[in-house]
Amino acid sequence: MTGSDGNSVLLLREAAPYVYQHRDKTFVIAFPGEVVEQDSFRRLIQDIAIIAALGCRIVIVHGTRAQINQRLAVAGRVSHFHHNIRVTAPDDIPLVEEAVGHLRIRIEKLLSHALNQPSFAGEDIGICSGNYLTAQPLGIIDGVDYSHTGKIRRIAHALIAQQLDSHNIVLVSPLGYSPSGETYNLDYEQVALSTAKELAADKIIFLSDHDLQLPRELVAGQVNHDPSASPFLLKIASLLLHSEIERVHLLNAAQDGALLLELYTRDGVGSMVATEQFESLRAATVEDISGILELIRPLEQRGVLIKRSREQLELEIGKFHIITRDREVIACVALYDTDAPEVAELACLVVNPQYRGGNRGDKLLRHVAQLAKAQGKTRLLVLTTQTTDWFRERGFVKGSVEELPANKKSLYNFQRNSQVLFQELA
Ligand SMILES: CC(C)(COP(=O)(O)OP(=O)(O)OC[C@H]1O[C@@H](n2cnc3c(N)ncnc32)[C@H](O)[C@@H]1OP(=O)(O)O)[C@@H](O)C(=O)NCCC(=O)NCCS
Repeated sequence: MTGSDGNSVLLLREAAPYVYQHRDKTFVIAFPGEVVEQDSFRRLIQDIAIIAALGCRIVIVHGTRAQINQRLAVAGRVSHFHHNIRVTAPDDIPLVEEAVGHLRIRIEKLLSHALNQPSFAGEDIGICSGNYLTAQPLGIIDGVDYSHTGKIRRIAHALIAQQLDSHNIVLVSPLGYSPSGETYNLDYEQVALSTAKELAADKIIFLSDHDLQLPRELVAGQVNHDPSASPFLLKIASLLLHSEIERVHLLNAAQDGALLLELYTRDGVGSMVATEQFESLRAATVEDISGILELIRPLEQRGVLIKRSREQLELEIGKFHIITRDREVIACVALYDTDAPEVAELACLVVNPQYRGGNRGDKLLRHVAQLAKAQGKTRLLVLTTQTTDWFRERGFVKGSVEELPANKKSLYNFQRNSQVLFQELA
C-alpha cells in the first residue's frame, strides 16, 4: 500500500466504506507466541494501532507456547504435551508466569511506541491488561492429570467492555487465576474464542506464524462435517454455530499488511470461516435495489442496457436474481414472463467488471434457465446488442423479430436493432 500512484487511489476508494463499516466494531485479534518472535511483528503492532485509531475496539489475545518452551528448556525442564495441550507441572508455573509477563510487557511496549507516533497524537488510546480471566483446572483427561493447565471459568467481559468504551486496547494474556489464588496456564485460542463470544465481538482474527494453506472461504456448517478438519478449525466452526459471531479470519502474520488488507479490501488476503457463504446467489429484495442500480448504471449510460428507473426496479425487483459478495451486489439477472406462455425472457444480465471471467454469468444463466423450466417454459428469449456471441456459445440461436411474443414485438426498438436469440430449454 505504498506510493502515491493510481493504485493507491483505488485502494483508498476501496477502503473507505470499510473504514465506516468497521468503526466502533469489536475485533478480537489473536496470535501465538511464535508471531511475536517474527521480524514482521513490529509492523503488525503498528497496523493494530492504525485500526484502533480508525475507531475499532480492539482486544488482543496472545499465546506463549514458544516462550514457555524456551524458558523450560533453559531451566533444563522437559515440556510435556498430551493431545497437543501442555501439561503444566506446579514447578513450571513460575517460569510460565515469567514468560507470560515478559511477553505482555514486550507487546505493551511496542504498542505504546506505535500509539505515541505523531500521526496518532490526540487519539489518546491506552493499553489495558489485567486479571480478566478466572480459571479452574482442566483436570484429568484419558488418565493424564493436566495439573496447572486450566480452562476458563469466567471472563470479566463487562470490565473488558468498559475498557473498550474508554478507547483502550485490551490485552488479554493466557493466564487465569482461581478464586483460591492458583495460576492456570490457558490455551490462547480458547481464550480468544471465549472472549469474543462473551463480548459478542464482530470478528475474530487469528494471525499464525505460517501459511495455513486453507481455502479462501470456509463455511462453518461444512467444516463441522469435514472429517479432515483440524481441531482448531472445528473449534472455530463450533463457536460460529453457537454464537452471534459471523466471521473468523485466518491470516499469515508474516505477510506485510495482511491485517489491513483483510479488513479494508473487499477480497482480503487470508482465509475466512463464516456462518454463511461469502458469495451467494439468491433472489433480490428491495434492500438490493441500490446495489443493482450501481451495477447497471454504467452499462445503461453506454447504451448496452435499456435504462430502468428506480421506480421501475422497485416494481420489478421480484424478477431479479443476484450474486452478492460480502453483501455487495456483484452480478444480476432478471427473468420476465412474456405474452407467450412457453417463453420467458432473460434480461439485464450483468457481472461487475472486477469479477468477470469467473463463470458468474454462466451461473446466473443456468439459474434462471432452471427457474424458467420449473415454471413450465420451454424457450428462453434474450434481446442483446453486444453480447450475441456470449449467448450463442451457450446454446442460444438467432431468431427473428417475427418470432417475438406479442408484447415484446410491439415494444421492439428497430433503431436499437437488438439481436433476437432463443435457447430451447430441454
Ligand atoms: C456477459 C457477462 C454477463 C459475462 O459475465 P462473466 O461472469 O464474465 O461470464 P463467464 O465467466 O461465464 O464467461 C466469460 C467468458 O465470456 C466472454 N465474454 C464476455 N463478454 C463477452 C461478449 N460480449 N461477447 C462474447 N464473449 C464475451 C469472456 O471473454 C470469457 O471468455 P473466456 O472464458 O473464453 O475467457 C459480462 O461480461 C457482462 O456483464 N457484460 C456486460 C453486460 C452485458 O453485455 N450483458 C448482456 C446483456 S443482457
